[in-house]
Amino acid sequence: MSELNKIALKILSNGKGILAADESNGTMAKRLDSVNVPSNPENRLLFRETLFSASGMKDFIGGVILYDETIKQTSISKKSISELISSTGAVPGIKVDTGAKVLAGSTEEKITEGLDSLRERLKLYYKLGARFTKWRGVYSVSDKYPSKLSIHSNAHALARYSALVQECGMVPIVEPEVLMDGDHSAETCLKKTSEVIKKCFEELTLHNIDLTGIILKPNMILPGNKSDKDILGEEVAKLTLKCLKESVPSDVPGVAFLSGGQTETQATENLNLINRYNDTNFIMTFSYGRALQQSALKFWSKDIRNIEGTQKIFNHRANMCSLAAQGKWSIELEGK
Ligand code: 13P
Repeated sequence: MSELNKIALKILSNGKGILAADESNGTMAKRLDSVNVPSNPENRLLFRETLFSASGMKDFIGGVILYDETIKQTSISKKSISELISSTGAVPGIKVDTGAKVLAGSTEEKITEGLDSLRERLKLYYKLGARFTKWRGVYSVSDKYPSKLSIHSNAHALARYSALVQECGMVPIVEPEVLMDGDHSAETCLKKTSEVIKKCFEELTLHNIDLTGIILKPNMILPGNKSDKDILGEEVAKLTLKCLKESVPSDVPGVAFLSGGQTETQATENLNLINRYNDTNFIMTFSYGRALQQSALKFWSKDIRNIEGTQKIFNHRANMCSLAAQGKWSIELEGK
């Protein structure tokens, strides 16, 4: 078993998943504005440290994705943030892309940037304690999108990023996110997501990536958020499994889904059903941002000194997601 495979399994095994706390300062400002808390380095750290020091970290969280600002901050307990996370048994990770910009040649689409001087930045993050990384490519859906250009160029960037990350001894999370925006059907989402993921693996293979040492972070297969069709969780699970079975090589140890705008309960229920029906060898877990933090953030914003109350809400959410990662969740447990 390679070192990279060991790290990936440490993050994903035993019903654990990933806390995506890597919102950029711009995104975090939007999240904090929405609950009327000023976005400054102190408040961003206070909220995040509240989660990282919650008791639920030990049992339910195998990895935490950090943002550049956070990995360089010092916790209230004077530990580095990486030490704080490692002390819970979770692996510290870092977002290394520098965001999605307009794709020249197809200006309604985006390309993720951040390859320039990435090798040097990775060495620094490794020294700061990171052992895995994240890079997110985004794809719009319409009759003509994602274009071949977007599918090709984002896959190429994800592969070049992955090669540099593995060279530096870390596990790359490969995140191709087919966005939920639009009125498209779940079948369209399935077709486009499969095409996107297949291209990613074509490029990863070309770049000699050790597939046992990556984590795939895809979207679930859902209708667009402006579609008037309802979909049952069972259907989401079956389509998502179909997509992954036809597009992901079996060497990949696991899949950690993004929540992508689903509510906390939807994201939990759908993950649970994916695990109930899972007939693949992939570990299927969560790498949620909003679906792990939303309720905790709302509660915290009412009294940012109420650490214990906020942690209780986060622990519950993380517990629900962990049960879903084992196919053991039920709606009745939400009320407890
Ligand atoms: P959401 O779960 O809020 O979609 O965030 C996950 C993530 O890391 C997006 O890149």
